[in-house]
Amino acid sequence: MKTLNISQLLKSQPLEHVEIKGWVRTFRANRFIALNDGSSLHNIQCVVDFENTDESILKRITTGAAVSITGELIESQGKGQNVEINVKKLEILGDSDPETYPIQPKKHSFEFLRENAHLRTRTNTFSAVMRLRSSLSFAVHKYFNDNGFNYMHTPIITGSDAEGAGEMFRVSTLDQKNPPLTESGEVDHSKNFFGKDTNLTVSGQLEAETYAMSLGKVYTFGPTFRAENSNTSRHLSEFWMIEPEVAFMDLAGNMDLAEDFMKSVINYVLEHNKDDIEFLNNRLLDEDKTKPQAERNELSLIEKLNFVVENNFKRVSYTEAIDILRNSKPNKKKKFNYLIEEWGADLQSEHERFLVEKHFKCPVILFDYPANIKAFYMRLNEDGKTVRAMDILFPGIGEIVGGSQREERLDVLKEKMAVLDISEEELWWYLDLRKYGTAVHSGFGLGFERLVMFVTGMTNIRDVIPYPRTPQNAEF
Ligand code: 4AD
Ligand code: MG
Repeated sequence: MKTLNISQLLKSQPLEHVEIKGWVRTFRANRFIALNDGSSLHNIQCVVDFENTDESILKRITTGAAVSITGELIESQGKGQNVEINVKKLEILGDSDPETYPIQPKKHSFEFLRENAHLRTRTNTFSAVMRLRSSLSFAVHKYFNDNGFNYMHTPIITGSDAEGAGEMFRVSTLDQKNPPLTESGEVDHSKNFFGKDTNLTVSGQLEAETYAMSLGKVYTFGPTFRAENSNTSRHLSEFWMIEPEVAFMDLAGNMDLAEDFMKSVINYVLEHNKDDIEFLNNRLLDEDKTKPQAERNELSLIEKLNFVVENNFKRVSYTEAIDILRNSKPNKKKKFNYLIEEWGADLQSEHERFLVEKHFKCPVILFDYPANIKAFYMRLNEDGKTVRAMDILFPGIGEIVGGSQREERLDVLKEKMAVLDISEEELWWYLDLRKYGTAVHSGFGLGFERLVMFVTGMTNIRDVIPYPRTPQNAEF
């Protein structure tokens, strides 16, 4: 007999014999178990013949308990479901003490659930979010596979700082209390495992560039680490990044790729995860009802996702964006009160939000940023002061993608590295790409958690990754 999960049983015709295992969500009137096995949001109702069931067993059917049920799948008499299970045999696999089980059948705050991250996927919201996270990650691989990309595994431990921002976690095997010392009394890093200092990667881009220059189209999708002390709802110390890199592609091609890719993965979950998205959509609509009119969302989650899929992203140069910001009236009442900016300054998140949410009201691709505020590897424009960078800004999220056309000219790259004091010796292999068969190439990085936030409507990045790492927090 093939074992069906609850999601499949709920769509099935009546069956004489079914076996199912799962966790009790609720047990009512000594009769009705709502059972969930994680296959979908939906519980199956299992009706216990309480007159013929031992009292000692009935007592152990509590919220959170793991049970195994054998019975008959019949048409449901009750409302809200087509089928239910008439329980013939019930076995308690694992008890759950109702006095101490943290996930009670009631609304819990997200803060409380964060403290119980090991159990929070037993709620509808978090199971929906994590199923969507899984589905989105499949959609990412599917997109690149369908489009001729090679999946490349870039190293986690690395000697280079790809972003040149110095926000790295050190990897050290030295005894921190009694480190080996050199003759002059300094810590001897040559005694480190790799014979030198290494870090956890901040980005797989530089290695991805090397493979793009031989395999043509590649992407990485892996964990990246940033030791920045940003305690915001959009930053993690450990996050997953998707980084495609393509040879012979310029910045315009990069924008086309990013837009097509994002639309495609969002479309995938709209088609394949309808139930979970609808649940999260309704959760947000309910939340909106508790807010004053002015603070409610203009579009529902589903409307927002469809809007992104159906409309072009607005492409705007940094210089145009600064003009827009300069000519916009400061709104003193609310968040957007620092609109006047000087050319050359980095945009703050309130500027980005103004452009996306108030001015254009759609996703925006900002490009051609001042060279001074961007990384060393970006292609310098002919004006000598801007680089072929692009950031994609999403409503409610801000920056979701950062990318660029890469500097392919050896002399220009070397000059830039010298100005920023980046060692040529360390990046000799990166420079080799510009010596042997150099070519125009481009790529971008998408913060996976920010994408999951957008798709699920969750507003804190800690709620879209199983075990968030943030400053002062790595409990699990
Ligand atoms: O803009 P970033 O720093 O770009 C890079 O790392 C490039 N090497 C990417 C490339 O061109 N291949 O990071 C890319 C994206 C950001 O737009 C953001 O979505 C996400 O990664 N990101 C973070 N997400 C969560 N927590 C953080 N601390 C993040 N830092 C960046
Ligand atoms: Mg960036």
